[in-house]
Order: sequence, then C-alpha cells, then structure tokens
Amino acid sequence: MENKYHITLVGSGMIGAGLAVNALMNGHPTIIYDVIDLEKVKKTVQDVLDIMVEAGAITGEKAAEAASLASYTNDLDAAVEKADFVQECVPERIELKQSIYRQIQEKRGDKVVICSSTSAIMPSVLQKDMLYPKKILVGHPYNPSYLLPLIEVCGGPDADQEVVELVMNIYRSMGKEPIYCKKETEGFIVNKLSWAAMDAAKKVVLDGVCSVEDIDKAIIYGPGMRMAVTGQIMTMSLGVQGGLKAAAAKYGKEPNEADIILGDGVDAEIAARPKEFGNIVEDVIKFRDKIFAVILKEYGKL
Ligand SMILES: NC(=O)c1ccc[n+]([C@@H]2O[C@H](COP(=O)([O-])OP(=O)(O)OC[C@H]3O[C@@H](n4cnc5c(N)ncnc54)[C@H](O)[C@@H]3O)[C@@H](O)[C@H]2O)c1
Repeated sequence: MENKYHITLVGSGMIGAGLAVNALMNGHPTIIYDVIDLEKVKKTVQDVLDIMVEAGAITGEKAAEAASLASYTNDLDAAVEKADFVQECVPERIELKQSIYRQIQEKRGDKVVICSSTSAIMPSVLQKDMLYPKKILVGHPYNPSYLLPLIEVCGGPDADQEVVELVMNIYRSMGKEPIYCKKETEGFIVNKLSWAAMDAAKKVVLDGVCSVEDIDKAIIYGPGMRMAVTGQIMTMSLGVQGGLKAAAAKYGKEPNEADIILGDGVDAEIAARPKEFGNIVEDVIKFRDKIFAVILKEYGKL
C-alpha cells in the first residue's frame, strides 16, 4: 500500500474522531480505541462523517468508503498491534497520557511513532522516563480538527529529525498541513498568535474603543480574510511595493534584523508556492482576490 499507514487513534472525543475521519478519508486503515462503549465511538465518528458530507467536503459515497476502513476496539494492545502511527487524543492529564505510551512501547518497542494532541504539555515532559522518548512527539491539531488542516509538530530539544520528517509525511498523507515548532514554547506557535490577538481585542473593548461585535466584524471583514489567504507575514509583505525588505528603505531607514529575516523568508515562501496559488507577487494577489470573491459571495456581500 503506497503511502498508506496503519493508524491508531487513542481517544475518540472532539479531536480523536476528527483526526480519525481525516485518516479514513485518505484511505488509511484506521483503528479507533477508546475505553467507552464502542457503539458510542462509532456514532461519534459517523457524526463527523455526516458533518463533512453536509459541509460539502465529501460525498456520501466517499463517506461510506471511509467508514468501511474503520475498526473499533476497547483493547489497546490489539489497537496498536500493527500500527505505524498512533495519535493520542485522551484528556489533558500527563500520567494518563504516559500510561498509554508505556503500554504501547512495552507492546511494540520503538516500531511505532506516537504523537500527542496535547494543547499545552511540552514533548520533553511527555517523553520523560519513557522507554523510547524520541518516538513520542506532539502533533497539535486545531479545532475543528476534521476540517482545519493545521498540525503543529514539536519533538522537543532531543528530537530525532528522521522521526520528525516521518511524522510530517504521515500527517500530509492524512490531508493535514503540518508545521514544525523548533523549540518548546508555551502555546507552541498558533496559540501564541491567537493569544496576542485576544489580548489586543480585550484591551480595545475594555478601553471603550469599540463593541465586541465590531471587533469580530473587523477581523471577519478585514485582517481575518487577508490572513486566511496570505497569512500574517505574506499579507504585510504584499502591502509594500517591493516586499518587506523594501519597507525600511521606503521610510529612509536601514533594514533591521527582522526586516531581513522576514523579508528573505517571505520572498522564499512566495517562490516555493504551487503555481496555481501564485508564486510571484502579481499571481498571489490574483489568487487572493479570487478567494475573497468566493468568501464574500457566501456572506452575501457580492
Ligand atoms: N478540544 C480542542 O479544541 C482541542 C484542540 C487541540 C488539542 N486538544 C487536545 O486533544 C486532546 C483530547 O481533547 P478532546 O477535546 O478531544 O477531549 P475529549 O474529552 O472530547 O475526548 C477524550 C476522549 O478520550 C477518551 N479516553 C479517556 N480516557 C481514555 C483512555 N485511558 N484510553 C483511551 N481513551 C480514553 C474519552 O472516552 C474521550 O472519548 C487533549 O490533550 C486536548 O488538550 C483539544
């Protein structure tokens, strides 16, 4: 089976069921393990498949095909017997997560890579005292995990880059878009960004500058739309003729370290984009405008 992995989901709540559906939709034989009644687990997974059909993400036929690749068990040893990859999605308790890793590694040795969905526990904490710490990483999804492709991978200070690369490839094969968090840091990457936005939003509202509704309108119809298509740094770069590196010169300043690192980074990012998304500035702008038109039509604004 080319690019197909035996994937096991441990825990089938909001996150586990969503990621199980991603694995199933991409043709991976997937086992879903939980400690609760398996009829309930099956229903949760089926509910997610139904949501995907209702959202227009997949057809009913594709959902049925995906469902046929799923199996369910209350036996952890059986769940991981053939697994190449385990995504752990149990509640946020270190001792619970570690007891599961211990059992899996006692059963499968170092043959299986385990990623934790944890939002806040650092990989080095999860790896501590485990039999094969380098085979335990964080793979943090973003809610709703069944639709949003983002996964933040963090392997901690002693990460084995080959294992990281394998994990990134497995996530890609599940239709996800993994990014790599090179250092352990609170909130990893994405919660840091969203906390900064939330802090600013709180301050603006509490300072009486505008209503709660206007904060959300501002994001939905302004920066949020731009960020959804061209991110943060690319958005700022597209706003300056010549890109970020030209910004300092425009205001008669020498570029500082951030101008250079972000400017070079964003130029490389644009050049590496698939052609159909635009890989020169003019084409990125055309692509962005096309997506804006799609979103604005859905909102009845066009
Ligand atoms: N909910 C979110 O928005 C979100 C986002 C990103 C990451 N996460 C992380 O994902 C993980 C799971 O979160 P969730 O929101 O899906 O939790 P949840 O409470 O919805 O689901 C947890 C599941 O784990 C099962 N479970 C409990 N003990 C178990 C055990 N010993 N073995 C197997 N299964 C067991 C439960 O029965 C339940 O189905 C947490 O670490 C959380 O921090 C959550």
